[in-house]
Amino acid sequence: MGLGEGGEVAQGCLMIIAVDGPTASGKGTIAKAIAAHFGVPCLDTGLLYRAVGWHVAQTGGDPDNAQDALAACAFPEELLDNPELRNEATGGLASRVSVHPEVRAALLERQRAFANQPGGAVLDGRDIGTVIAPDADVKLFITASVTARAERRWLEMTGREMEISRDEIEHDIAMRDARDTQRKDAPLRAAPDALVMDTTALGRDEAIAAAIAAVEGATS
Ligand code: C5P
Repeated sequence: MGLGEGGEVAQGCLMIIAVDGPTASGKGTIAKAIAAHFGVPCLDTGLLYRAVGWHVAQTGGDPDNAQDALAACAFPEELLDNPELRNEATGGLASRVSVHPEVRAALLERQRAFANQPGGAVLDGRDIGTVIAPDADVKLFITASVTARAERRWLEMTGREMEISRDEIEHDIAMRDARDTQRKDAPLRAAPDALVMDTTALGRDEAIAAAIAAVEGATS
């Protein structure tokens, strides 16, 4: 393992941290904070699926058609910087293209290469601990109740002056959970050796502190 005394990853070591969980569980925030704390790069793998979903829609394809979705995996790199990828609607498209095994296979090597870079990495997603990096040094599975997740997403969206009701968000989240957990290929589930963290009753900073402590505990 590779943690130095200050918590940074020791040179030449490979430390892979997998952070999985359902939508709006706080896994992205936690993954970024862990990466900053340990000084390793972080990949939001959901963004790749969002880019595919957005690109297939923009090019007139059908997100439910495997060949259309596969073709959209060749999205332009600069699309990853497009703020529209963060929209709820794009999340829905991402969830639809992500059920196709062809799409998952097309995005796999990119994610594995990121995970295996020298010095290690943090990746957040749905199948990091189960498929992308099954040998990750630390696996966290971040979850929270649907109501708590809908509330957080609602606050975030109304903060960006987007008009949407809590009920609508709760409905979308429940639909996405169902699609992500029930798909045949790489369904959302905690790896058997993952540490499950329920953040329903935790504030942002508490959740981050608990996750960092969990990584330190697992690697010491
Ligand atoms: O994490 P985020 O909400 O951005 O992910 C969008 C969608 O992409 C998820 O609902 C899921 O269907 C898909 N996804 C996936 N595997 C990942 C990351 C995201 O299937 N590793």
